[in-house]
Amino acid sequence: MRAPSNGGGRIDAWFLVLAATCLIGGTGLGIGMGIAHDFELVPVHAHVNLLGWASLALFGLVYRVYPDLVRSRLALVHFGLAAPTAVLFPLGIYLAITQEQPALAIAASLLWFGGALAFLVNLLRMLAFPVPATA
Ligand code: HEM
Repeated sequence: MRAPSNGGGRIDAWFLVLAATCLIGGTGLGIGMGIAHDFELVPVHAHVNLLGWASLALFGLVYRVYPDLVRSRLALVHFGLAAPTAVLFPLGIYLAITQEQPALAIAASLLWFGGALAFLVNLLRMLAFPVPATA
């Protein structure tokens, strides 16, 4: 599998690989919480699953359905911001809960937001400048 790139790369597949990895981590944490009857880390579990699994998988499917999105460098910007922060944000929540250190959660949330903006701008670009259909 090629590395993520614009111009025909496999951003869709890489989003899905990372999403499935987060699904394993997030559900593993859920199983651990259930076994231990300790639910202190529910917000970590929820955000690994919702940012990591659900959001990244949705992004992957959207890039698959709309390959025109991958023509723009905004797709790479989006991937570069969303992929690491899907992990860093839950890690930040963990540090906020256990160490009362919210700095990573705050920084990661802003980076995630930046990625979401790049995604929106790319969608609007695709609508404003559609690629002409080839015969
Ligand atoms: C093996 C699979 C999973 C297990 C064992 C599991 C386990 C748990 C447990 C024990 C809780 C805490 C419930 C409580 O506080 O009483 C929880 C909460 C939560 N889980 Fe999961 N979970 C799993 C998969 C998922 C997935 C796939 C998602 C999302 C796509 C998810 C999203 C959430 C959310 C949002 C909460 C918080 C609910 C709330 O606070 O009301 N979980 N999970």
